[in-house]
Amino acid sequence: MKHPYYILFLIALLFLSCKEQSSQVEEIAIIPKPLYQKIEKGVFILDGNIQLISTEKLNEVSNYFEAHVRESYQLEFSKNESDKKIIFKSDENIQNEEGYKLTINKNLIEVISKNSKGAFYAVQSLFQLLPINSDSKSIEIPCIEIKDQPQFKYRGMHLDVGRHFFSVDFIKKYIDLMSRLKMNTFHWHLTEDQGWRIEIKKYPKLQEVAAFRNETLIGHYSDQPHQFDGKRYGGFYTQKQIKEVVAYASTRQITIIPEIEMPGHSQAAIAAYPELGCTGEQVEVATKWGVFEEVYCPKENTFKFLEDVIDEVVALFPGKYIHIGGDEAPKTNWKKCDHCQKLIKKENLKDEHGLQSYFIARMEKYINSKGKQIIGWDEILEGGLAPNATVMSWRGTNGAVQAAKEGHDVILTPGSHCYFDHYQSDNENEPLAIGGFLPLEKVYSFNPIPEELNKEESKYVLGAQGNVWTEYMSNKKQVEYMAFPRMIALSEVIWSSAESRDYNDFIKRLEFYQKRLDKLDVNYANHIYEVKGELVNSDGILSYKLSATSDTYSIYYSTDDTEPSKLYSNPIDVTSSMTIKAVVKDGNKILGNTFEEEISLHKGVGAKISIDKEPHPAYNAGGKEALINGISGNNKRYGDKEWLGFSGEDIEITIEFKNPTEISSISTRFYNGNGQWIYAPKEIGFSMKLEDGKTINDIRTIKKSNNLLVEYFYPIESISVTEISIVVKNYGIIEDGKQGAGHKAWTFIDEIIIE
Ligand code: ACM
Ligand code: ZN
Repeated sequence: MKHPYYILFLIALLFLSCKEQSSQVEEIAIIPKPLYQKIEKGVFILDGNIQLISTEKLNEVSNYFEAHVRESYQLEFSKNESDKKIIFKSDENIQNEEGYKLTINKNLIEVISKNSKGAFYAVQSLFQLLPINSDSKSIEIPCIEIKDQPQFKYRGMHLDVGRHFFSVDFIKKYIDLMSRLKMNTFHWHLTEDQGWRIEIKKYPKLQEVAAFRNETLIGHYSDQPHQFDGKRYGGFYTQKQIKEVVAYASTRQITIIPEIEMPGHSQAAIAAYPELGCTGEQVEVATKWGVFEEVYCPKENTFKFLEDVIDEVVALFPGKYIHIGGDEAPKTNWKKCDHCQKLIKKENLKDEHGLQSYFIARMEKYINSKGKQIIGWDEILEGGLAPNATVMSWRGTNGAVQAAKEGHDVILTPGSHCYFDHYQSDNENEPLAIGGFLPLEKVYSFNPIPEELNKEESKYVLGAQGNVWTEYMSNKKQVEYMAFPRMIALSEVIWSSAESRDYNDFIKRLEFYQKRLDKLDVNYANHIYEVKGELVNSDGILSYKLSATSDTYSIYYSTDDTEPSKLYSNPIDVTSSMTIKAVVKDGNKILGNTFEEEISLHKGVGAKISIDKEPHPAYNAGGKEALINGISGNNKRYGDKEWLGFSGEDIEITIEFKNPTEISSISTRFYNGNGQWIYAPKEIGFSMKLEDGKTINDIRTIKKSNNLLVEYFYPIESISVTEISIVVKNYGIIEDGKQGAGHKAWTFIDEIIIE
């Protein structure tokens, strides 16, 4: 046996060798995680004696680095020859335009890249090795070797400035924050039904009329009746301001893609120039959210207008792409319009979808003639894809799959993983959002390459993008809250290698990154100290498991409606209905929100369940057992782990009881978020196998409702059953004029409560 002093000596030795890197040195916590990093012993000391050298090609980036060091740490580089150097070198042998090598030794930091993009990303990694706060005049940077390059060449974030308008300063901040995460594309959604936000000199009424709305909806669209604030709202970016933003973005290696929506989401422009619509009637700039029937009429004067707009847009944005929208364009007016119908015949088009395709292809031709390429939302596939278009797949990934198989470039922005306007926590106190549920972990789990694509086809996947639609984000703080930390998770999805992805490791690095965001005054959402719960059914024995995203601190809980005070270590036995409350605490300080879950042990809990269809993979988090686990879904978040989502299908759910069970009612509820294409069914069928072998069948209709949640209660005269089957009929095709018109509705079903 070794002497205990020997162990103490070893510990002391370990401690001393660690001292080579003092506590001031930052942990290596770079986000997005580099492809390769090797931590070396020792530190480079950044002080006033460092010579900064750069090849001319990388001067702009080295100047940016110098400015950052000056501003953040009040340190200047030495004008004299020094044996301690930071060198920016370009190397043509680095294949990837955005790749870089960063080597930090005791006396030398080398940034090596092919061009300024790679050097910029090296600098971003280097920044994350510097302390968040330091007023020391000698800063320690850990020695390390990094070789890095992105997995995807399109790494984007979108911002809708139509629903709410944001200042130039904020747009710059957003771009800067993106660039720190090695994102390279800002998709600027500039025109909407509720406001036109880009100055077009040839059409002054876009500024005078289209940029302002008379008032704005208060609360959620689903809250009836609609109420308005009575306040005029709006604004637009002058061309001078746009040039300023474009120039700023270029210093952050970010390309801007402007989006000019057509033929839909154009009510504001039609309010300014009614002749652009089919009816010519005066409409107002929209004051509430949704999809509007006012779309551009494909007349010659409309094309002239759009071409003039494109001329001015092209002159402002040096990037390769112009986004032309193409989404959610109801065909109602086109169906009634003489001109549109004649054009369909004249051009030998199949229908109004053919007309949309004609519209987009014609605009594509014009935009191509200006040396630019178009991007459109996946609706541009309907009626035939324009020859050179890139598709942005938002309604799931089918659009991406189809377009890639047709040999078109695609960018993935599916609602299930990339819509940062959805809720991110199931806590009831979250600020109002459009709906849905997209927690951080789900963003992090995203794979931008759809399974249906083979290796060759997946080359058309350029990358992915997070979308920030701002109906429910009226100020910059709220935009920050919704975008962060989800943008951080997405940055790693698209930059880092899929094999290196590890959520727990990411969360540890995020805890550091959040401190950087504090310093940058970013109002990020912090849910990593929130408790999550899961009911575990192990052969009919129920228990409830608690966990938190970060395991840095302990969880405390209660089961009797008191403040959570018991230290959690093992799953809690669930033998009766109960309400579990839980928090994460650092000593006595509560971190994050209080978690609360009501478990109701109805007669279905613990039975065996099967469903004849698989729920959609994006909405099956709880598995089929979620329907009989005694826990109801969130009232606003159909994407949580209690709701199951099915795309366009009838489903049959079968519940088998271990022993004949006396029941007197079956109830459940459906999500009815029509704006998200989710509809309660019109019909539900029940079939009950009785203990005596007989079967009772019954079909019930469900009244159409505008409520967001449609509950269905089915009372039965007390019977003893061995099995229940429930057939839930899909709502069917969504009607014209509604969001998702022409497509099959989604069905979302919650707990099936059997009493
Ligand atoms: C979209 O979300 N309408 C592209
Ligand atoms: Zn028309």
